[in-house]
Amino acid sequence: MDDSLLDAFDRSELVSLRRRLGNWFKKHGRVLPWRETHDPYRIWISEIMLQQTTVKAVVPYYEKFITRFPTVVELAAASEEEVLQNWEGLGYYSRGRNLRKAAIVIQENFNGQFPEDLSSLISLPGIGRYTAGAIRSFAFDLPAPIVEANTLRLYCRLLNYDGDPRSRDGENLLWAFAEVLQARKNSGRLNQALMEIGSQVCTPVAPDCERCPLKIHCRAVAVGTQESVPQKKARPQVTHVAEATIAVRFGNRYLVRQRQAGERWAGMWDFIRFPIDSVTFKQKLSPKNLATLNSEVCEKLSDRWGQSVDVPVIITEIRHSVTRYRIRLICVSANLVGRVSKRSIPSHSQWANLKQLDELPMPVTGRQFVNLLRKQP
Ligand code: ADE
Repeated sequence: MDDSLLDAFDRSELVSLRRRLGNWFKKHGRVLPWRETHDPYRIWISEIMLQQTTVKAVVPYYEKFITRFPTVVELAAASEEEVLQNWEGLGYYSRGRNLRKAAIVIQENFNGQFPEDLSSLISLPGIGRYTAGAIRSFAFDLPAPIVEANTLRLYCRLLNYDGDPRSRDGENLLWAFAEVLQARKNSGRLNQALMEIGSQVCTPVAPDCERCPLKIHCRAVAVGTQESVPQKKARPQVTHVAEATIAVRFGNRYLVRQRQAGERWAGMWDFIRFPIDSVTFKQKLSPKNLATLNSEVCEKLSDRWGQSVDVPVIITEIRHSVTRYRIRLICVSANLVGRVSKRSIPSHSQWANLKQLDELPMPVTGRQFVNLLRKQP
């Protein structure tokens, strides 16, 4: 690790940096629901939601979640299904599952009280080094370094660190800098302000250095590298796939299955869904490939799921992304031939009407499909 980058910030410069940052935050920091509280439970929920999700998208989910589960007691007592229902639409559902698991651990091992020390916090499911630091500093106002996407960028520029911030050396340097920035008091406000300036001023593209109160301390601005630092993350290879999802119907009920551990969207209920070969991601639907698609759907439903159906009807197509996958999802409805029998129901499945489907946690595409089925004659 290159200590000289850190050593370049002496005590008096750090004092000035903190003061400038604090003044800026008082004037320009956004008022956000989780900034109005020191309740570690609320701060924890907000921080988990804010991983991978924007502030704007999180606010309504946060309000709804806190209303339904106001304290760790209600969360620990809830079923996984109910927690997932309240997480529906936020994505990365393991976050919701881990919240419930951690709430149970807090009830059972910590007497219902949030721990203050970093190692106990990190021992909880779904809480890493950043989230532990955020809870400790925001809720208890105790010193704790933080590094997440916004502060990572800010620190790289303040230090003019042009190495890979996600390498072991890069991480060590940035966490050491986050530690150096800490003072004995007001750690909560300092960390909020660091993140805020990272997200509002020190933006990934076209940072607003003219408006930045830390400009005089920024080593990247001094040499004009603020646009090229930090090094960009290598973009994962995008893969295009085509899938079909089938609402198998019997009367007013549909066959849905709960996704199992190890599958995408574990714990959520969804219609049967599988990759298809008869149509690619880009191909237009023609009478010919439509016929092959229909045979493929009927064959797979029968062979793999034990469901025999009459002619499938395409209801809609959805294009969506999951991690590095770009997915073309063909949504099909098909009537069951014969009768519903216990013997032919796949494992972890149930027949549910539209009202019952509203009560089950579903992935976004499943929910969109339900809402379209409701409009069908
Ligand atoms: N991103 C992650 N945590 C945040 C917070 N507490 N406020 C605003 N944005 C955030």
